[in-house]
Amino acid sequence: MNKILFSSASLILAVLFIPITLTFAEDLKPIQLLKPQVDRGRPLMQVLKDRSSSRSFRSEKLPLQVISNLLWAAFGINRPDTGKRTAPSAVNWQEIDIYIAMAEGLYLYDAKTHILKPVLSADIRAMTGRQEFVKDAPVNLIYVADFSRMGTATKEDKDLYSAADTGFIGQNVYLYCASEGLATVVRGSIDRQALAKAMKLRPEQKIILAQSVGYPKK
Ligand SMILES: Cc1cc2nc3c(=O)[nH]c(=O)nc-3n(C[C@H](O)[C@H](O)[C@H](O)COP(=O)(O)O)c2cc1C
Repeated sequence: MNKILFSSASLILAVLFIPITLTFAEDLKPIQLLKPQVDRGRPLMQVLKDRSSSRSFRSEKLPLQVISNLLWAAFGINRPDTGKRTAPSAVNWQEIDIYIAMAEGLYLYDAKTHILKPVLSADIRAMTGRQEFVKDAPVNLIYVADFSRMGTATKEDKDLYSAADTGFIGQNVYLYCASEGLATVVRGSIDRQALAKAMKLRPEQKIILAQSVGYPKK
């Protein structure tokens, strides 16, 4: 009898604790980002003076306008006639995708339409890094290289150029954050295998770095 009770309880617990990452994006809607405010921002030299890494975040969400500005600054299209971006990329491959993990779910930034496309309706922020604070940051950006966009480059070149291209994007985010008084840190300490699985990435997609963004804890 006890055994039956124990098995039933285990089953109920197992059902209750099915990882939330099993939830798909059906109930998440695309988010139309707002036009980036290109007339904002502090002088570049002052921003460079303030650029720094910070690992302490308030949980307060970022307004849509701030997320819109942040993503455009990171790797938005700044020359619509050519489709070129705010960060350079080797051979103009534009192989880096920015995923954004927030409490409500995971989205993919589509620079062409300036839309956040739903990927997963689960809070995977805690999985975006091995450090405690990542679950507190309202936004964790995940920089993912799509090797299938890098032509016939060797594996070594794909690794090298996608890492370099990510660095430029990360620095754009650092500069935007310094300009707006936001806290940020770029991060390599990630369980990439677990995160790629949670994000349901294809084999040719490779997680390069992540970057937390939020309001600084006072
Ligand atoms: C490629 C790269 C990976 C990094 N990975 C981490 C990380 O996993 N966790 C972390 O807290 N900081 C990480 N950082 C941030 C560095 O620790 C930080 O930039 C360095 O200490 C210098 O501090 P500053 O950015 O304030 O100048 C990383 C920086 C880079 C460039």
